[in-house]
Amino acid sequence: MRINVIGSGYVGTTLAACLADLGHDVLAIDIDEDVVAALNDGRAPIHEPGLDDLVADHAGANLHATTSYDRVPEAAVTFLAIQTPSREDGSIDAAPLAAAAEMTGEALADTDEDHLVVVKSTITPPALEEVRSALFGACENAEGRVGLATNPEFLREGTAVEDFLAPEKVVLGTEEAWATERLEAVYEPLLAAHDAHVVRTDPATAMLIKYANNAFLATKISLINDIGNVCKEFGVDAYEVADAIGLDDRIGEQFLRSGVGWGGSCFPKDIAAIIAAAENEGYSPPVLDAAVELNDRQPERMLDLLDDHVDVTGKRVAVLGLAFKPGTDDTRNSRAIPIIEGLTERGAEVVGYDPVATENMRERFPDIEYTDSAPAALDGAHGALVVTDWDEFATLDEEFDAMADPVVIDGRRIVDPQEGIVYEGLTW
Ligand code: UDX
Repeated sequence: MRINVIGSGYVGTTLAACLADLGHDVLAIDIDEDVVAALNDGRAPIHEPGLDDLVADHAGANLHATTSYDRVPEAAVTFLAIQTPSREDGSIDAAPLAAAAEMTGEALADTDEDHLVVVKSTITPPALEEVRSALFGACENAEGRVGLATNPEFLREGTAVEDFLAPEKVVLGTEEAWATERLEAVYEPLLAAHDAHVVRTDPATAMLIKYANNAFLATKISLINDIGNVCKEFGVDAYEVADAIGLDDRIGEQFLRSGVGWGGSCFPKDIAAIIAAAENEGYSPPVLDAAVELNDRQPERMLDLLDDHVDVTGKRVAVLGLAFKPGTDDTRNSRAIPIIEGLTERGAEVVGYDPVATENMRERFPDIEYTDSAPAALDGAHGALVVTDWDEFATLDEEFDAMADPVVIDGRRIVDPQEGIVYEGLTW
């Protein structure tokens, strides 16, 4: 099938390359000429394991890129994978997405063929209506030949290609039978090879499924963090508790790692967006509010634990891990950000280390020191805060001996507590 993917960011590039891998003929459309050139050269414009290989395999064959919307009508489906920036109040700004929908509509204004426009970006029901008006306002002449659907993604950074090609579920939000059939045809090669559940529903429900999925997982982590804080008060190990409650199928063992909380581009943004959208309708969701509040508090609890052992004013303190999770250089909403801010407020000299995320964090905090190894950060430090669960932190041992005050506050349960150090787990 011929498919357009508009937007070649994180989601769009993964989608375009994976659809090409399923055998479709894919045209990626992006306004950024550098991105288009990279794709046509067989290079992925973003880093994601496995993506470079897919782009290299298919570029010039069944994956092409362009800045022009001219060839939009030649395809049967257009996916919109455009960024939705957050506003100050957490709500999403659907203007860039609506602009792309309008240009798609203009391109389809005189089409004689049925064409399905599918929103891949995560958007709230009111934003979906904005997109609908922009699209159909621009192609009134197409008289029912253009359809609008939603098809949320559930991709994790670091395993996005794998998640796309072997999904647990595929959610199709459509309004007409032909649209459902067309989206099923898009995913047919994948569904034939994998045992994924297909959820067929309407466009707004599909998006609420996405928001609920992320809200549930983030709240699950906040709940285990809440329980973990209680455990810590009683000297109980929250991980022992989590292992046991995870045996209950109704709870499940995943996403029960308590600690310094969740970050990244999806959980914080999506939860803020769904809260803001609900508030706009007059409903303030208390549990989701509490999940966010607790997540904001976990870094403070780490800093409080450090304060219990050492006054860091004027002293060197190591922050181990700057990425929001291991396996990525993404620092968006990383818990390291409030940790660095809290240390700076205390007058500490912050020294950060991360195997891959240093340059991204340097853009935000250009004035702190960065080292190229964990031992170098620990050397002479009066405390160390472990913020990301990179495997290499599990093997730190005599490196702690070089600290001026060997106080280690672990926010991810990754360090192996050595004799001779003061070790505090956040929830154990
Ligand atoms: C998430 C969702 O998993 C994915 O389905 C969605 O499409 C996008 O958002 P991602 O942001 O890549 O994916 O990261 P994920 O692996 O889910 O971790 C999110 C955050 O939660 C990280 O900061 C991680 O450290 C934290 N986390 C995760 C915990 O604190 N405890 C856990 O048990 C699991």
